[in-house]
Amino acid sequence: MLPPTTDPSLLYRLRDGIAAVDAVAAAIVHLDLFTSLVREPADVAGVARRFALHPRPTDVLCTLLAAQGLLHRDATGGLEVTPTAREFLVAGSPFDARAYYAAMRDRPGVADFLEVLRRGRPANWPGEEGEADWHAAMRSEAFAEAFTAAMDCRGHVLAPAVAAAVDLSAAARVLDVGGGSGVYSIGLADSFSRLRATVLEAPPVDAIARRTIHAAGLDSRIDVVAADMFAAAWPAGHDVHLFSNVLHDWDEPDCRRLLARAAAALPPGGRILIHDMLLDDGKDGPLWAAEYSVLLSTVTQGRLYSAAEIGGWLGELGFEIVARSPTALGRSILTATRGRS
Ligand SMILES: C[S@@+](CC[C@H](N)C(=O)[O-])C[C@H]1O[C@@H](n2cnc3c(N)ncnc32)[C@H](O)[C@@H]1O
Repeated sequence: MLPPTTDPSLLYRLRDGIAAVDAVAAAIVHLDLFTSLVREPADVAGVARRFALHPRPTDVLCTLLAAQGLLHRDATGGLEVTPTAREFLVAGSPFDARAYYAAMRDRPGVADFLEVLRRGRPANWPGEEGEADWHAAMRSEAFAEAFTAAMDCRGHVLAPAVAAAVDLSAAARVLDVGGGSGVYSIGLADSFSRLRATVLEAPPVDAIARRTIHAAGLDSRIDVVAADMFAAAWPAGHDVHLFSNVLHDWDEPDCRRLLARAAAALPPGGRILIHDMLLDDGKDGPLWAAEYSVLLSTVTQGRLYSAAEIGGWLGELGFEIVARSPTALGRSILTATRGRS
């Protein structure tokens, strides 16, 4: 599988960031967050309590505003309003620009993000009548086809970069958890000639994976297992578990459940690979990731995480992150193995 010859970062970045401006408008117009924080400082949990918001999207919003230079997270987690935000987004300032955003008040995206902030649940994913969120919509064949095509085309950029970033020449078999079309298993099988793989997918995406793997001529090296990754026993005999763009769909307790299942199933010396866009450990950037996290929090039950957050969960399972490499499109891959103690 060859990487593209030109850089599509702008195209992916524009789409990943599409919900971020509406989130900023919600903070300015509906919450008047900056005026509130100047009058009474708070941390993320305090903001959530003050406005009766759900902690997950509140964290996403504060990360975005920090990445944009409108808030500064201090060492204790307190949120400071930066000089720019003080001058332009706080009542009483001669340059108060809140009126410039007021006309955005009724945009559907602003209303959606407010709903997510208040309920902690995804607003409607456009395109599927009656489906309340992305997870439910994925059970419909038409939506699953369209969404998996989106993941697959992105995978054509990312999978060669993943295969270049990790050395699986000594690995036997990868379990590609929530592997979508199978594009990452295909990329890895292409690069490592002895490697076998299994895509673990929920119906109806398993059928799409079988079709894609067949078209790539790799049926003999890549299996597909249709199962619910939270409920079913995971297929045995895999020494590498790959989570590519999976954790960001789930809230922290579900991410921990998935990683615990991997830790329990892997043999000694087994590896967990986490491929995703990562937040900085200080949760104040990178801006692309902070923007994408808003989109994810709006349509899934998840958000983006930092390597420190993921490393903390892995640490409790006896694993530690031993390598981190960039892949493409602002994404990275983490490798975790069992710690020595
Ligand atoms: C964001 S996509 C990522 C797909 C692919 N790994 C990639 O990197 O493009 C998440 C995948 O998780 C799968 N998934 C969601 N819930 C699942 C479940 N309970 N069991 C198995 N797979 C699931 C979805 O069908 C979807 O293909």
